[in-house]
Amino acid sequence: MTRVAAARADIAPFYVMEVMRAAELRMAAGHDVLHLEVGQPSTPAPRAVIEAAHQALDSDELGYTTAAGIEPLRRRLTEHYAAWYGVTIDPEAVMFTVGASGAFVAAFMAAFDPGDRVVVPTPGYPCYRNALELLGCDVVELQTGIEDRFQPTVAQLESLDSIDGLVLSSPSNPTGTMLDAERMAAICEWCRANDVWFVSDEIYHGITYGESAPTALQFDPEAVVVNSFLKYFSMTGWRLGWMIAPPALRTALTRVGQNATIAAPTLSQLGAVAAFDAHEECHANVARYARNRQVLLDGLLAAGLDQLAPADGAFYIWARTDYLADDSQVLCARWLDELGIAATPGIDFDPANGHRFSFAGYEADVAEAVARLRDWTP
Ligand SMILES: Cc1ncc(COP(=O)(O)O)c(C=O)c1O
Repeated sequence: MTRVAAARADIAPFYVMEVMRAAELRMAAGHDVLHLEVGQPSTPAPRAVIEAAHQALDSDELGYTTAAGIEPLRRRLTEHYAAWYGVTIDPEAVMFTVGASGAFVAAFMAAFDPGDRVVVPTPGYPCYRNALELLGCDVVELQTGIEDRFQPTVAQLESLDSIDGLVLSSPSNPTGTMLDAERMAAICEWCRANDVWFVSDEIYHGITYGESAPTALQFDPEAVVVNSFLKYFSMTGWRLGWMIAPPALRTALTRVGQNATIAAPTLSQLGAVAAFDAHEECHANVARYARNRQVLLDGLLAAGLDQLAPADGAFYIWARTDYLADDSQVLCARWLDELGIAATPGIDFDPANGHRFSFAGYEADVAEAVARLRDWTP
């Protein structure tokens, strides 16, 4: 057979999956693994969501929904934006998607043409870069540093040749750092003034350790906001995300949604209606992440891994490790082999060799991992 895969699909893998596989193999061989690689909550969905889904299974036909999603969930979401951010959302702006991933890929398809120049920060979430490349966009990687808390600045955007889009997450994966209201306002204003589509990935909202995260919609009603029930609401496998999009993109988004996925999973939508009644449970999870964050932060600093910016949100700390090894994948393999620590090598997020440590797991694992790192000599 001489048929071959399309050249456009020759994009980078998501390397963290390889670390997870190596950790699994180590466990299968009977060794312990401290999981600091996994970027997902270690808790199930809130009880109210599970009950609502049970009821739906018993009473609903679970047919297709419209591409935008079910009305009661759109209504609850608009109430949520009013309560959390004081922002009024037109229910017509809301579309439910297959995870935040489904939302940003649909947003890219609706907003960008092949050849459009789209900025993504480095270190940054790799799937933006890979999905944009798949769509033929010209990805402009913007290096950010500790001094700017790993988020882009307007001065950096201004220094670029003309661009068509900017995509970032705040709080960020892999750094946990976020744009405060002032910096978010400045970025929104700059994008608006320069006719640049701003896709604001707000998937870690609700998981913050000081100030709460501002939404781009507070500063620009025309921003494209992406989010999902996966992190704060602890609904990983339910694969339900959402997008809030301005009128100029809505027809395109409906057509992309109808043709690419038809609709987001109906059972997840019916369950998610109850998620907004579960803040108490979600806050308890955030309180646990906050304790883990402190243990990890103190432990990394004590182990001499001090090239980092403390996380404002999400459940990651990003530390530079290029002074420990030339290749973060080699370092990662050594930590797994010698210490039983699974962390994520920088290659997914930044070629400059940092490491992402997740503190979404168990406090005892985080504490043991930093104790082992402290006693380790490179
Ligand atoms: C910044 C960011 N955006 C999007 C996603 C993907 O989200 P989902 O699982 O809702 O598709 C992730 C997953 O970890 C993420 O960290």
